[in-house]
Amino acid sequence: MGTRTLLIVYFLHAVAACGQCAHAATAKEVLQSFEDPEHAVQEGCYFSAEYQGEFIMQVGGAGSKGSGSIGDPVPYSSVRITFNSIPVWGYCRRRVGQNVLLVNRYNDDDCIRCFRLIRRSRNIIEVFSENLNRCYTSEIAATASCDTLYSKAILYRTKEFAGQPIRNEYCPIEGRYHFTYNINDGSEEKIECNTFSSDFGNCPDGSVFHLKFKRCSFENLGRDDFISLSRKASRDQIMNITFNCLGTWDGPNGSKYLALLDAQGGEERRPQYRCGLYHVDNKKGKTYLAFSSDSSCTQNLENSTSGYETLVLSKATNQKTVPDYVRNHVALFPKWSHGEWEQSLIVNGTMTFTDTNGYKSYTFVTVDSNDQSGRYVVYSKDQCEMEGYVCLMMKQRSENVLEFTTGTATSLTYKSYLCDDPNLDKPVWMTQSRIERVVESPCPITGQYTGVITDLPGMCAELSSNCNTREIMYYKVSDCSTGELYEERSYLCLGQWEENGVMYTYTKRNDTSTNECFVGLIVNDEEIYIKEAGDHCIRNIDPKTQGMRLYKKGQCYGNSPSPAPTPLKPIPHDPVMRITSTPRSNVGDNMINQISTITAGSRCIGKTANNQHTMFLIILLGLIYLNMYYSKSER
Ligand SMILES: *[C@@H]1O[C@H](CO)[C@@H](O)[C@H](O)[C@H]1NC(C)=O
Ligand SMILES: *[C@@H]1O[C@H](CO)[C@@H](O)[C@H](O)[C@H]1NC(C)=O
Ligand SMILES: *[C@@H]1O[C@H](CO)[C@@H](O)[C@H](O)[C@H]1NC(C)=O
Ligand SMILES: *[C@@H]1O[C@H](CO)[C@@H](O)[C@H](O)[C@H]1NC(C)=O
Ligand SMILES: *[C@@H]1O[C@H](CO)[C@@H](O)[C@H](O)[C@H]1NC(C)=O
Repeated sequence: MGTRTLLIVYFLHAVAACGQCAHAATAKEVLQSFEDPEHAVQEGCYFSAEYQGEFIMQVGGAGSKGSGSIGDPVPYSSVRITFNSIPVWGYCRRRVGQNVLLVNRYNDDDCIRCFRLIRRSRNIIEVFSENLNRCYTSEIAATASCDTLYSKAILYRTKEFAGQPIRNEYCPIEGRYHFTYNINDGSEEKIECNTFSSDFGNCPDGSVFHLKFKRCSFENLGRDDFISLSRKASRDQIMNITFNCLGTWDGPNGSKYLALLDAQGGEERRPQYRCGLYHVDNKKGKTYLAFSSDSSCTQNLENSTSGYETLVLSKATNQKTVPDYVRNHVALFPKWSHGEWEQSLIVNGTMTFTDTNGYKSYTFVTVDSNDQSGRYVVYSKDQCEMEGYVCLMMKQRSENVLEFTTGTATSLTYKSYLCDDPNLDKPVWMTQSRIERVVESPCPITGQYTGVITDLPGMCAELSSNCNTREIMYYKVSDCSTGELYEERSYLCLGQWEENGVMYTYTKRNDTSTNECFVGLIVNDEEIYIKEAGDHCIRNIDPKTQGMRLYKKGQCYGNSPSPAPTPLKPIPHDPVMRITSTPRSNVGDNMINQISTITAGSRCIGKTANNQHTMFLIILLGLIYLNMYYSKSER
C-alpha cells in the first residue's frame, strides 16, 4: 500500500487577512501534510481554495423550525471542505462535469454519492445532492444519479480556508431606509410594524445591516419569530437587530438572494443564519425583502414579497439634498470616461463608485474640472450621507482602463486648493476597467516565455500569448523535471501602460472573472520580469528585484495559435486557485476618514506592497501542490 504525502504550500496574498487588517500569512507558514494510507493510490479530485474552509449547515431540513414549531432552535452542524474531501460525506473520487463523486466506506463497501457544489459568494456554497440517506455502491449508478440532484443545503462559511476568520461582503441594499415588517405565520392578518417607522440601513459599516424596530405590535406571545421580541418588547419599545452581510447572488425573476448572519448570535431562539430574497422596485421607490423561516433559502420563502417575514423598505426621506453650490457649479467629467466601469458609472458630471473592499459606496459630483491635469474638485457623498469636497484625480491608462484617486485634503465647503499638488502626493490608485469594450487590448508579450519559480523549488512557470487572439494570454505551472501540469489559466488583457520605466498590465482572470494587475519589465525580446500587483495596480514594486525572470522559449509562428492551452489531461490535481482576497479600504476610506472622522474601515493598502513577498507565482496565489511523493513502498 502506498502512502501519499501531499505537501501543500499556499501563498496567501498579503492582503488576504486584510479584512481584519491583522496577520498576513506568508508562504511556508502553513505547510500541511496529508497522509491517508487508505486512499492512497486512489484517483482523486480536488476542491480549489475558494471552496475550502469551515461551514455551518442547517440539518433536518423542512419542518425543523418552521413557523409552527415554537421555540425550537434551528439545528446546525458544521461541515469542513478540505482540498480533497468533505469529511461528513466522503473523499473526492472523481469529477463528473460540474459534479463530484464523494465516497465513504462502510464496512467493506463503498458508499458513493453525487454532489454539486455551487459557490454563490465568498461565504456561501449551495449543495445539490440526492437524499443523503441513500448512497450507491457502484460508481456507474452514482454517476447516473448526478442527473437528479436538487438543492439540498446552504453552507454558510465560518472559517476561511486556512482557518482565518471570514470576511463580510458589502451589503447589497445600501443607505438608510424606513420599513414595515410582517410575520406571516398564518395565524393572523395584521402587520406587526405597519407604519414605516422602523429604521434599516448599512451605516456606517457597509457590511452590516442595522434594524431598529419601532412602533410595532408583537402580541404573538410565545411565538419564536424573527424578532423574537415577543417576550421582550411591546408597543413603543425599540428593538435592535444587527446582521452581518455574507453574500448575495441572483435569484428567480430578477430578484436576488441575500445571506445574513445574526450578529447577536445564538442567544435568542431565532435562526442564526438567514436567507432571503429581495428586489428593488424603482418605480415605486421601494425595496422588498422576504426571509425564510429557518436557515434554508426555501422554507416559507416564495419570492421577495412573500415569505415567513417580509419587509418593505422605503428610502429615508431626511436625505441631504445636494448643496446649492454644487447645483450651480456642475462641471463635467471627461468624455472618454463616460460609461459603465467595473465598479463605477460615470455620466456627465456624476460618478458613482462602490468600494466593495472598503464597504462603502460614493457619489462624486464634479464642480471644478480640469481635463488637462485630470483633476476634478468633487462634492462627495457616501451611502450614509457623509459629505464633503475633495479632489478626484482621474487618468485614462488605456482605451479600457481608467484609474482614479482622491486627494488627502477635504473640506466641508468648496475650496479651490483641494487639487493642489501637495494634496495628491502619494496617490493610491483605484483601477477600473470598462464593461462595454469596443476594442480589446493586445497583451504585452508575444511568444512563449518560461522561468523558474524561485519560491517553489522545482516548479516552472510558462507565460505565453495566443498569437491569433492577442488579448488572451496563458499561464501554466508545472514540475520542471516531469512536466506534470499543476495549474493552467488564461487571462484577458484589458489594458497596459508604462510608468516610471515599468509596464502595468490589467487583466481579467477567466475562471474567476476577477481582475488582476501585473507589473513587468521587458528588458528585451528575450528576457522579461513580472510580478503581481493586486487588483488595483499597486505601485512601487520593482519587477526586476521582486519579480520572476522569464526567458523566451518560442515564437509566435505565423498564424499558429502557438502555445494555446492543451486540454487538461486527467491530472490528479485540481488547478491551483488564487485566494481572492483584497485589501479592505481604499481611496474611499482615506477620504471619508478625513471628511467625517469616521474611523471605521481599516486601511491596509500601505501594507500590501511590503507583504507581497511571493513571486509571480502569486499569480496563482493560492494553494500549490508543491510536491507529490508517491512512495510506493510495499507494506
Ligand atoms: C437600540 O439602539 C439604539 C441606538 O442605536 C439605542 O439607543 C437603544 O437603546 C437600543 N435598544 C435596545 C433595545 O437595545
Ligand atoms: C417567475 O415568474 C413567472 C411568471 O412571472 C412565474 O410563473 C414563476 O413561478 C416565477 N418564478 C419564481 C421562482 O417565483
Ligand atoms: C409572490 O408570491 C405570492 C404568493 O405566491 C404571489 O401572490 C405574488 O404575486 C408573488 N409576487 C411576485 C412579485 O412574484
Ligand atoms: C448629460 O448631458 C447631456 C448633454 O448635456 C444631456 O442630454 C443628458 O440628459 C445628461 N444626462 C444626465 C443623466 O443628466
Ligand atoms: C473562458 O471561460 C469561458 C467559460 O467560462 C470559456 O468558454 C472560454 O473558452 C474561456 N476562455 C479561455 C481563453 O480559456
